[in-house]
Amino acid sequence: MSVIKIHLIFACAQGGVIGLDNKLPWHLPEDLAHFKKLTSGQTVLMGRKTWDSLPAAFKPLPNRLNLVLTTQAHWTAPGAVAVHSLLAAKELHQAHRSSQTDASHESESAIWVIGGAQVYAQTMSEAHVIEMTQIDLEVKGDAFAPLLGQEWRETSRQEHTSVKGVRFRFLTMKRF
Ligand SMILES: NC(=O)c1ccc[n+]([C@@H]2O[C@H](COP(=O)([O-])OP(=O)(O)OC[C@H]3O[C@@H](n4cnc5c(N)ncnc54)[C@H](OP(=O)(O)O)[C@@H]3O)[C@@H](O)[C@H]2O)c1
Repeated sequence: MSVIKIHLIFACAQGGVIGLDNKLPWHLPEDLAHFKKLTSGQTVLMGRKTWDSLPAAFKPLPNRLNLVLTTQAHWTAPGAVAVHSLLAAKELHQAHRSSQTDASHESESAIWVIGGAQVYAQTMSEAHVIEMTQIDLEVKGDAFAPLLGQEWRETSRQEHTSVKGVRFRFLTMKRF
């Protein structure tokens, strides 16, 4: 079995806010494009609430294996594959890759954890890389990004200003 790395990707406002009322409390097209660029062709893993939060037009996320973590034994949705543990997600990811002849020989692959708060919290301890978009906005929230300990170091930073004038930055964090 090849090595499976866990990558977390999220966008957060000030105070680590990532969501409110099961929605993103901002619209930042540049971040959606960044998310699409990094996760296309990959396996994404999300909580069932994050799946529910996706607009119908983006369900499933195209050109990605959409794994949805749920405790509900009979949960189904078109284009999604239900999983009941991170281990099951890894097994399905591996089986999917083995069925793709051009990817199956690679020694390393990644599962992209795309939210939400519950699933980030549960996968942090296994994460190797975090792709974080920090948005300079103060918004109300009820879902929060995981806290990063001292083992995490920033390895890349790109500063941007959105077409709407909001400052934000793409950070890559790696575990050392
Ligand atoms: N800013 C960002 O980058 C970003 C990204 C993604 C999401 N979000 C936001 O985050 C919020 C949603 O986060 P959330 O924490 O409320 O929910 P979530 O993590 O998306 O989903 C939680 C659900 O996942 C399932 N689950 C969690 N752990 C499980 C386990 N160990 N085994 C089996 N199933 C498990 C359960 O589903 P069942 O109830 O079906 O059992 C649980 O109710 C929304 O506001 C969303 O907009 C933000």
